[in-house]
Amino acid sequence: MAVLSLVAPVCLIAVAIVATGPINTLCLLGALGCLSLILILAAKAWLRYKLPSPSQKSIGFFHPFADSGGGGERVLWCAVRAIQDAHPEYQILIYCQAGSTPQALCARASAAFLLDVNATFQVVPLTCCHLILPETYPRWTMLRQALGSIQLAYDGLLQAVPKVMVDTSGWAFMYPLFRLAGCRVASYTHYPTISTDMLQRVTSRQATYNNDVAVAGSPLMSLVKVVYYYIFAAAYGAVGGCTNVVMVNSSWTRGHVSRLWWTFTQPLLVYPPCNVSHLAALPLDRKLKSLFLVSLAQFRPEKDQAKQLRAFAMARQRAAAQVMHPDEDSSHAVLAARLKVVGSCRNHEDNERVAQLKGLSSELGLDACVDFCVNAPFSEVQQLLGGAVGGLHTMVDEHFGISIVEYMAAGVIPIAHNSAGPKMDIIKTDTWDRVGFLCETEEEYARAIFEVLSMDQSKRMGIAAAARRRASEFSDEHFKDGFLRALEQGLLPPNVHM
Ligand SMILES: *[C@@H]1O[C@H](CO)[C@@H](O)[C@H](O)[C@H]1NC(C)=O
Ligand SMILES: *[C@@H]1O[C@H](CO)[C@@H](O)[C@H](O)[C@H]1NC(C)=O
Ligand SMILES: *[C@@H]1O[C@H](CO)[C@@H](O)[C@H](O)[C@H]1NC(C)=O
Repeated sequence: MAVLSLVAPVCLIAVAIVATGPINTLCLLGALGCLSLILILAAKAWLRYKLPSPSQKSIGFFHPFADSGGGGERVLWCAVRAIQDAHPEYQILIYCQAGSTPQALCARASAAFLLDVNATFQVVPLTCCHLILPETYPRWTMLRQALGSIQLAYDGLLQAVPKVMVDTSGWAFMYPLFRLAGCRVASYTHYPTISTDMLQRVTSRQATYNNDVAVAGSPLMSLVKVVYYYIFAAAYGAVGGCTNVVMVNSSWTRGHVSRLWWTFTQPLLVYPPCNVSHLAALPLDRKLKSLFLVSLAQFRPEKDQAKQLRAFAMARQRAAAQVMHPDEDSSHAVLAARLKVVGSCRNHEDNERVAQLKGLSSELGLDACVDFCVNAPFSEVQQLLGGAVGGLHTMVDEHFGISIVEYMAAGVIPIAHNSAGPKMDIIKTDTWDRVGFLCETEEEYARAIFEVLSMDQSKRMGIAAAARRRASEFSDEHFKDGFLRALEQGLLPPNVHM
């Protein structure tokens, strides 16, 4: 993309040279350059006149829906706590939906994430948050949301201008405004607004969720749409270039951001914090009399627990075939092991899926060695993680896979699907110390299950210990260090008391 956005102007210049001659082109370019410079300076002067001047010791966090309880909000609150701990001299401003007080936001963070946030920050209320909701715009949604976000940012800046603005919501089109207002800008991007995958999809005219059938069917509409997406992507890249520090939450997002944004440095990968401290405290050794595997996932179709049952049955068949040899301890271990399928059911469909899985388990002859633990309480899940030797994960293309990090923190060896998050971010198999297994086919899963169950204790503990070390890279502390280090690259003075 970055290449493409260079190619387009070069082509335009070439056309201008051919059409009007080199001298005229040079004059034209000079005029354009002066005009943009004048516009930027005028905008800057106007903003300086309209907006309050930046207060030196303040950090703003732009997060319109700070009162919800999703993964993005956990990142926000952990980041706020990091600043409170390391830079107490800075005043923190949270730009969010009007109607929230610091006390209410802290109570929410504590209820949703068990996080204690000190209510010493200020809230800058934003009154027009509906401007960034996709529901507001049936057509040209991305463009109008982007414009809405600029208006929202302006509304916030009219009330206060911080020295450093941290955007944790991903609204990149605000960045030029922040810069013109005199802030330094750090962004933490979870998900790019537009991705190169999306561009490919519109270019190849596939009908998908954001590309409806009428558009995919008509060549003219498709052309308009392709042009719209490319211009939008170029603009997204340009505004992304207005940041001083770029952080991303995963390798996948890093790939897209570094391809699209006009930045010179590689975005910093700062994994979102997971609270695994309670799991990391569990002992690593396991009772060898009752080996078991665990599978932790909601009972949703894409989690594909059926594959786990079939792979487990296959591993047992293999063990049964080998058990004829008199001194085959490992096969006995596999035959004696159990599989505990743990998960929550949200509705009737989920309950039906559990019934189907139980049916499959009987069909495979696994009744005596598979347990279903539906809606088990937290303490029981923790106990199961503390006892299991291996953990199964079969979802294809999962963005992250927090259950895998939980396995690893608890000392359970993960056997996960070889795609997306588990492959790119969690289970690195290129290092010499193995932390888990990545599989695709049922045979591969069966082989990994056999290996984990028949492994001798010292080898298993070695892998479990390496897995736990790797899981600590997703901990709250690791996030705090990464986040502060990124901001201290020029935006904040390095902290001396750390
Ligand atoms: C982490 O989780 C444990 C147990 O659920 C909880 O007691 C603790 O307060 C949490 N800590 C953070 C920082 O979220
Ligand atoms: C909150 O921060 C203030 C000022 O930094 C400090 O005096 C106070 O002890 C903190 N409160 C808690 C509960 O940490
Ligand atoms: C990054 O954020 C996206 C969007 O919230 C999420 O789907 C993905 O799982 C996150 N990745 C990591 C590594 O947490």
